[in-house]
Amino acid sequence: MAGITPNKRDSFGSKFGVIAAAAGSAVGLGNIWKFPYEVGNNGGGAFLVFYLIFVILIGIPVMTSEFIIGRNAQRNAIGSFKFIKPGKPWFLIGIMGIGAAFMIFAFYGSVAGWTLEYIFQAVKNGFAEKSPAELTDQFDTFVSHPLRPVIWQVIFIALTAGVVLAGVKNGIEKYTKILMPLLLVIILILIIRSVTLPGAGEGLKFLFKPDFSKITGSVILSALGQAFFSLSLGMGTIITYGSYINKKNNLGSTAIQVSIADTLIAILAGVAIFPAVFAFGINPSQGEGLVFVTIPNIFQQMPGGYFFTLIFFILLAVAALTSTISLLEVIVAYFSEEYKISRKKATLYSSLIILVLGVLCTLSNGGVLAEFKIFGRNIWGLLEFTSADILLPLGGLFIVIFVGFAMGSKRVKEELTSQGTFKGKLIPLLMFLVRFIAPIGIALVFLNIIGLLNFG
Ligand code: PHE
Repeated sequence: MAGITPNKRDSFGSKFGVIAAAAGSAVGLGNIWKFPYEVGNNGGGAFLVFYLIFVILIGIPVMTSEFIIGRNAQRNAIGSFKFIKPGKPWFLIGIMGIGAAFMIFAFYGSVAGWTLEYIFQAVKNGFAEKSPAELTDQFDTFVSHPLRPVIWQVIFIALTAGVVLAGVKNGIEKYTKILMPLLLVIILILIIRSVTLPGAGEGLKFLFKPDFSKITGSVILSALGQAFFSLSLGMGTIITYGSYINKKNNLGSTAIQVSIADTLIAILAGVAIFPAVFAFGINPSQGEGLVFVTIPNIFQQMPGGYFFTLIFFILLAVAALTSTISLLEVIVAYFSEEYKISRKKATLYSSLIILVLGVLCTLSNGGVLAEFKIFGRNIWGLLEFTSADILLPLGGLFIVIFVGFAMGSKRVKEELTSQGTFKGKLIPLLMFLVRFIAPIGIALVFLNIIGLLNFG
């Protein structure tokens, strides 16, 4: 172990700081970019129903479990398992998580880079008077350019590294506290315009009226993957942030609050996007470009559109940044604590690896590597599917089994009640979810997709 003693660790200052940082990790492109396009690709309302069920029955128990592990061990995502169960293979969960962090950052950094391009275009008034078709064209041309998206991606990775170098308290906490509430306000403004467009009702129907005939095993797996991805679960981010949480904090209620905030933002993003998608005749399953085409279009239909578009993309970039910070922090905490190298070195080296992997991702998205396929997917698609839909739920499965059966109920209870500070009336219910509902739920989704069991 790297000789880290609990009291030497950096920690979050206030209760709001913890929630803000965890929510900052959770709320990001997953809510505003990925959620709408997953809903669009997976048939609308029925996807949403499964998503919500998974957040409540699986997401909240997994998040609480990760907080428990991190705060109890006061260590990184791998060190925590080694500390709690030395000499046992549980630390492999952490290794899987670090792997997932690299993969996610690779494609996530690419999309985060797009937000910078869109800020740049917003400043230049580069969306003015453009039709949905022209905006789609603009998006496609940009993302398949051999250099432009790569440059923005490099800038974004450098920004992330800069904040992570500044440390937990000065870096992460400060930024999230102010800017997340502002993002919520701007989404509300978008919603007002979107739902008052002629034909908006179709979009609301698409989002909220489930058509269960659209449900297949792969739709269910996507909903589960999206729940994990959006809540930053299954890979050690929340373990790592948990290790910075003050001993007095109520972990269960923090998990619930973060999950509610994250889910609310995703749904609101959907309410902003889909009415406009239908009103403008945009294809809801057009994929990654959905938000980047729709949002500038909505703002064009309102006074002050120039200004709002600009603010929106700035806030989206910030939301992405607070998420990439948490991805990088998982990796840096691991390398700096376990290998006794400085945070600076750990940040530098891991950023370089992310950069290489990330550029490959970007170039596979319509660029020079577009035709290169593995298992029928390009590099981007492969990393996105493997991390979000496979590694995160699998990590979550082992995490709840660990907390439910291996960690020891005394330790778990100590964390849940903060050494007896809270009564913990809901602990039996929570432990039932952790021990049985969450693992069985995840296992069923996997079995279903493998085809051993077929519900869908
Ligand atoms: N939850 C983040 C988002 O929604 C993405 C993320 C996934 C961050 C996993 C950290 C870990 O944008």
